[in-house]
Amino acid sequence: MLRRNSEKKKKKKKKKQKKKKKQVMATKVPQIAILGAGIFVKSQYIPRLSEISHLFHLKAIWSRSQESATAAVEVARKHFPGVECKWGDCGLEDIIQDGSIDAVAVVLAVQNQVDISLRVLKAGKHVLQEKPAASCTSELETALSSYRSISADAPSQLIWSVAENYRFESGLLECKKLIGGIGKMMSVQVIIEGSMNSSNPYFSSNWRRKFTGGFIVDMGVHYIAGLRMLVGCEVVSVSAMTSHVDLTLPPPDNISSVFHLENGCSGVFVMVVSSRTPKTLWRVVGLNGTLQVERGFQGEHGYLVSLYGADGQNQSSFFPFGGVTEELKAFINDVSENTLKKGSQFVPEPRLSFVEGARDVAVLEAMLESGAKQGELVQVKKF
Ligand SMILES: *[C@@H]1O[C@H](CO)[C@@H](O)[C@H](O)[C@H]1NC(C)=O
Ligand SMILES: *[C@@H]1O[C@H](CO)[C@@H](O)[C@H](O)[C@H]1NC(C)=O
Ligand SMILES: *[C@@H]1O[C@H](CO)[C@@H](O)[C@H](O)[C@H]1NC(C)=O
Ligand SMILES: *[C@@H]1O[C@H](CO)[C@@H](O)[C@H](O)[C@H]1NC(C)=O
Repeated sequence: MLRRNSEKKKKKKKKKQKKKKKQVMATKVPQIAILGAGIFVKSQYIPRLSEISHLFHLKAIWSRSQESATAAVEVARKHFPGVECKWGDCGLEDIIQDGSIDAVAVVLAVQNQVDISLRVLKAGKHVLQEKPAASCTSELETALSSYRSISADAPSQLIWSVAENYRFESGLLECKKLIGGIGKMMSVQVIIEGSMNSSNPYFSSNWRRKFTGGFIVDMGVHYIAGLRMLVGCEVVSVSAMTSHVDLTLPPPDNISSVFHLENGCSGVFVMVVSSRTPKTLWRVVGLNGTLQVERGFQGEHGYLVSLYGADGQNQSSFFPFGGVTEELKAFINDVSENTLKKGSQFVPEPRLSFVEGARDVAVLEAMLESGAKQGELVQVKKF
């Protein structure tokens, strides 16, 4: 039943998209560039963007090194024949100065993303930056104040989005719709058993090992984003224990936390970076029922959403992954609409807002701080 509903909605959505597409096609499509040429660009950005290639024009791909820029451009040329290859400081400057580029995707190491995003924004271009929004909350505060002053000087609204695909996953969106039905929330569980071992392409990623929190923050923001979306309110405070067990990973590699929500409910967040038993699960127990969403495989990867009702009945449905495509589409739509409406009436997609990304990082930072203080209660910084 759930599935049928979601299909109906999909059809409706498709109609809406067709309408939007017409609007976009009537004017010039936005020109974009990608800064970054790593695993995620080659394995996700390029293929996902190719699915929606009618909505924009890919002008260039840039990387620090010529070698990696060339490798990514080679992959991209199959779908985007005219894409230019840019590298080094000069290549970056070319893109920043290029008045024909409306928006830039920043897909770099967390240590460089904010600085480069701000440079691009200053040049009057919209930015879609990969998660995590920044490596810590002090960097987030500086970033947001710089963004405010750049925006104040800009002739029209500048969009700074954070790409958090979990906010666009249909399985998690379905849960958001169903959550009201379980009644008053009593308990929340988030159980993550990652598989970040040497077979994982990101395992040897250098930058993920060189900032506080490492994989916990880089991977963890997804699960916190899912949690915040599911419960529909903010995490207020946390208490956590952390440890370093798998010495092939940067510390800490596991975290066990209790968190307290704005709505009065508490829950647990357990995350192991590398385990033998991959698991991603959110579960909310309410007075009138329980809602669970778990990563699974039914011919393709996705989320299994299960609702257990007060009458003892349960119903499940499976939602394949699609968040990356949806988030990219939402950003490109934002850029197009912003150009069409020029300012005042334009409201960007809230799920892409930089502040949302900042809130995810703040929760994990509080957990890490609590862990370093043997479980002391820590308030989550508000953004
Ligand atoms: C929860 O169950 C009670 C008793 O069956 C009912 O009165 C109430 O409306 C239900 N609440 C929701 C949100 O379904
Ligand atoms: C982390 O995992 C190890 C191995 O399972 C365990 O010994 C340790 O207690 C865990 N730490 C926390 C804080 O859960
Ligand atoms: C890494 O984890 C995956 C999933 O659990 C497993 O299939 C694979 O064998 C593991 N690789 C190593 C080197 O442990
Ligand atoms: C869900 O319902 C089916 C029957 O409709 C039952 O066989 C199954 O055990 C239930 N699952 C759980 C976890 O309660």
